[in-house]
Amino acid sequence: MSELNINNFFSLDGKVALVTGGSRGLGLHAATAFLLSGAKTVFITARKAGGEQGIDQAVARLNKLPGIKGRALGIPANVAQVEDIERLVSDVKKHEHKLDILIANAGATWGGPFEPTPDWSTQKVLDLNVRGVFNLARLFAPLLSASGAPQDPSRIIVVSSTAGTNVHHVGDHGTIMYSASKAAANHLARNLAVELGPRNITTNTVAPGFFPSKLANGLIELLGGQDELERENPRGRLGEPEDIAGVMLFLCSRAGSYVNGEYISVDGGARLGAGRLTKL
Ligand SMILES: NC(=O)c1ccc[n+]([C@@H]2O[C@H](COP(=O)([O-])OP(=O)(O)OC[C@H]3O[C@@H](n4cnc5c(N)ncnc54)[C@H](OP(=O)(O)O)[C@@H]3O)[C@@H](O)[C@H]2O)c1
Repeated sequence: MSELNINNFFSLDGKVALVTGGSRGLGLHAATAFLLSGAKTVFITARKAGGEQGIDQAVARLNKLPGIKGRALGIPANVAQVEDIERLVSDVKKHEHKLDILIANAGATWGGPFEPTPDWSTQKVLDLNVRGVFNLARLFAPLLSASGAPQDPSRIIVVSSTAGTNVHHVGDHGTIMYSASKAAANHLARNLAVELGPRNITTNTVAPGFFPSKLANGLIELLGGQDELERENPRGRLGEPEDIAGVMLFLCSRAGSYVNGEYISVDGGARLGAGRLTKL
């Protein structure tokens, strides 16, 4: 017998987390998983507070989850802008003196034909998917470092995309700069792993394939619809909330404390299929 103790291996008891883009989609799945796993405080941030897809409705739903010990708090911020991230840090500090988990999940995409690409679209995508992630890590590093310990480091998860390693499609609805921004996010995360590891902060990348969401639904339709993408996927389906929750809980709990600078695709293996070159 070894001295292994796996009691509460995946528990997040007492942890403080911040999820950007937490008002819907993958960010809301992660925030839900954290509260259900015992987190004490889960901050969610996005630009919109009100409305059907704003932070307020998400916070209300999160706080009604059955059996949770912690609470969700919403703080509106545009994490493509450094001033908003600075304000976000000071707002978080009003409630908590440390941060255990930072999920840099908010992302933007833009699709269209190659040559007429408006320059504002590339700026929008890079500002959120790359500069925003860098500034979040940089400005939250002191709070993350305040909670990280050698046996239980704080965690940064960068939500990237399998589009950061594969060229899924080009043509009239091409998302070339999105794909490039996610490749940059992947390498940013590797750099952060080495920079912040000695401060007891690990950084890993989660790269989803297609999960139905506001961001993805338009492209899913353009590529032939959910049924067709499911047929092409080795697991025969698109991503579901549990799929993201499982990987997040592994990386953010004691189970994942020695994993640093890794990249995990969550796509059912779709990226590996040779498939066709989809020219739209
Ligand atoms: N769904 C997929 O198939 C898929 C596949 C690969 C990768 N991903 C990645 O997964 C992440 C989440 O995507 P999703 O599909 O869940 O998208 P989503 O459902 O559209 O949610 C995006 C979230 O980000 C927030 N957001 C957007 N711009 C923001 C900004 N400038 N500052 C702060 N928050 C902002 C949105 O709220 P507001 O609009 O109110 O700001 C919302 O909460 C993204 O990084 C995306 O690239 C998704």
